[in-house]
Amino acid sequence: LHYPLRRQRQMCIRDRAKSAVVARKWAWRTCSRWKDMTPEQESTLIEQAIDAKTLSYAPYSAFRVGAAALLEDGTIVQGANIENASYGMCVKQQLALPNYIGACICAERSAIVRIKQEPRWRHQKIVAMAVNSDTETAPCTPCGICRQVLREFCTPDMPVLFPTKHWQQDAHVLALTLEELLPYSFGPSVLGK
Ligand code: THU
Repeated sequence: LHYPLRRQRQMCIRDRAKSAVVARKWAWRTCSRWKDMTPEQESTLIEQAIDAKTLSYAPYSAFRVGAAALLEDGTIVQGANIENASYGMCVKQQLALPNYIGACICAERSAIVRIKQEPRWRHQKIVAMAVNSDTETAPCTPCGICRQVLREFCTPDMPVLFPTKHWQQDAHVLALTLEELLPYSFGPSVLGK
């Protein structure tokens, strides 16, 4: 109970498959202060990620995911997972078998692709993101492909927020930076871009 917060977060990620109880006990916390985001913006961002699940097309997995991204001008852009009939590939992606490419489009990537195609938004900094699924026990942290896409377009210190199912009552979220989600990452700078 006395581990520092960073260690708690790491434990959450490592142990989430083993024990949802651990995730609940160690990682959920109340967020308050961010460099570029007011508490009101944080709440709205999370609400929009929860709301974005209604945009999901997930007839194969029945696992709805919503994402929302806050841009520097205050705009919030939503994204949701959009599946297709080659859903077997998504299942394998979830099992982390590297030989298969996930054909489903995750909520996080949906949001990023919308931003990057819209002239008003494409050059703005992405200040924060929130992601939400219907799971109660563990946070819906991004898949490996999404982490790499975020790495391309977001800064390493960008917070990614994962609200609990009971967020509206207890205001608890898991907050991880992109750096924490994808440490020692490969990115544009490695190629001199
Ligand atoms: N999914 C997301 O949209 N985001 C994640 O972070 C993980 C998984 C989707 C992909 C697929 O439609 C469904 O959840 C089940 O894997």
